[in-house]
Amino acid sequence: MSADATHLLQKNLELVKTTDPEVTRRVWLNNKSHFACNLSDEVWLAKAALRTGLDLGPGVEHKIWVLVPRGRGNDPSAILSAVHTYERAGLMTVATKVSDHTNSAQEDSTGTGNSRVALKNIVIVYVLLVFTPVEHRKRGYARTMLKMLKEQLEQQTDPAVELSFLFSSVGRDFYEPAGWPAVRSRELVLNVQDHVFPELSMDTATNSWQLEDITEANLQVVMDRDIELLRAEMQDRTLKAHGNCQLAAIVPEARIFRGQLAVTHFTHQRVLNIEKPIIRTGVRLNAANGGDAFIIWAYHISYKILLVLRTRYETVGQLQCLLKEAVQEAREWGLARVAVWDLKDEDAHEAAGVSNRDRTVAWSCIGQLGRDTDTGARRGPVDLMLNEGYIWGL
Ligand SMILES: CC(C)(COP(=O)(O)OP(=O)(O)OC[C@H]1O[C@@H](n2cnc3c(N)ncnc32)[C@H](O)[C@@H]1OP(=O)(O)O)[C@@H](O)C(=O)NCCC(=O)NCCS
Repeated sequence: MSADATHLLQKNLELVKTTDPEVTRRVWLNNKSHFACNLSDEVWLAKAALRTGLDLGPGVEHKIWVLVPRGRGNDPSAILSAVHTYERAGLMTVATKVSDHTNSAQEDSTGTGNSRVALKNIVIVYVLLVFTPVEHRKRGYARTMLKMLKEQLEQQTDPAVELSFLFSSVGRDFYEPAGWPAVRSRELVLNVQDHVFPELSMDTATNSWQLEDITEANLQVVMDRDIELLRAEMQDRTLKAHGNCQLAAIVPEARIFRGQLAVTHFTHQRVLNIEKPIIRTGVRLNAANGGDAFIIWAYHISYKILLVLRTRYETVGQLQCLLKEAVQEAREWGLARVAVWDLKDEDAHEAAGVSNRDRTVAWSCIGQLGRDTDTGARRGPVDLMLNEGYIWGL
């Protein structure tokens, strides 16, 4: 579609953030055909109510946007395309020289010599559930909508938005020209039935390591420590690159895992009729064996996959120990595979004995809103440390 045609569409259409119950209902019923065609309307709408009502943090709401002819934002039959967004708490590194380290938005800093790395809190917007009804497809509506959404996000000031991201199997062809280029996404897939872990030469004690379940009782503690270490990691990586990189991360938060778990419980009870209770959402190593190492997973019963949402480890031995437990958990749930996204290639191979491969579904795509919200200056590319499993879905 030409720039002129997009411009013309933009003139005649508007992107409305809707709260109208009838419009909202129509949006969900429309997109059910693609995202959940096997569910009844009733179950899909109940799931939608759960997802939109989750506690995503202070002031954070699940927003629904509709593209409509101007003035028809309250007419469910006028929806040409729709998209959902919500904000996520993020962190971004800001490398500075000591002499110009004065910015109060940078809440802590570390470094050596005259280089310092500060971290500032940022807002990152998750874009999801892009959908054009079949009868309106291939007329440029979705692309126009994404362009308008990006403009809205760039103009938003309370809170200002630094980045946005989405996951897509449509990927490059559709989202890249719209401003959300796909990044390389890797995955490790272990076949539960016959997977054999390799013997580790350096680290033979892993079988006797003590593990502790991650449950509601200790999830917050695990997350607090994870965030602390993530911050240090971001500063360290930036220092090692002599400030020549800018990193951003989505903050791992207990409430997001709780949200994921609530959606899983819903699916088990209302869709799959599974009675078996979820006892734990992962495991961590006890203090003597590396208490910062942990793994958190989610059960995707329909796809027969245990998907690892987040893991942290120091040694390949720790990683192997955690992966073994994930495989054991998958077996207990009758699942066929364990999938882990974005492990380092060499660690995945050494710990599991199989290699990472490029992901063919749900690539992450990063939309950079090309300016710094403090200075207004245009900024170079940001490397988003994605925590991909954790931020996907919901
Ligand atoms: C993907 C979808 C939103 C596109 O909506 P649309 O309004 O038809 O898209 P547009 O008309 O704006 O198309 C924009 C461009 O993307 C291309 N495109 C559209 N759908 C595509 C797809 N599924 N894969 C690759 N490219 C696609 C179009 O050919 C067009 O390219 P062009 O401008 O060079 O001709 C729509 O097909 C849909 O709702 N699909 C089901 C839900 C879905 O897959 N959502 C995305 C989930 S991540």
